[in-house]
Amino acid sequence: MKVAVASDHGGFEQKQEIVAYLKEAGHEVLDLGPADDGSVDYPDFALLVAQAVAQGAAEKGVLVCGTGLGMAITANKVAGIRAANVTSVEFATLAREHNDANVVTLSGRFVDPATNKEIVLAFLTTAFAQGRHERRVAKIHEAEAWRLPKGDYPQA
Ligand code: RB5
Repeated sequence: MKVAVASDHGGFEQKQEIVAYLKEAGHEVLDLGPADDGSVDYPDFALLVAQAVAQGAAEKGVLVCGTGLGMAITANKVAGIRAANVTSVEFATLAREHNDANVVTLSGRFVDPATNKEIVLAFLTTAFAQGRHERRVAKIHEAEAWRLPKGDYPQA
């Protein structure tokens, strides 16, 4: 699977580990940075991954910051993105089964690397359950119409 990955400084170390883990597992990784652990603004990197997924350059996205919170808040501003901030394998599974999440956001400071890798594995291998969840996911995207004045969506 083609997976876009990025972090801020708070998630850099675990981002590096996740990139290596995904490559070892045979995934094609789009590492969208940063290249070192210098201080950066998480929205810049959340948007790179969100746009890559929304435009189809990657099938799924993984973002790591200190908490995962700022990454999720930012990524969810992009039309077509369903980003879930996940701190357990159970939530990763449910984020896929119920919410069809296409981006997972992780905490580099409060969740250990082994758990985050298990979360990523569950996120990439769990299918959307469809059925009643399809109607609910469609309603998430109906809400995107409220984000910008009509006709003002950014073009790819
Ligand atoms: C950066 O210090 C921190 O705010 C960031 O990594 C993240 O936790 C934001 O949600």
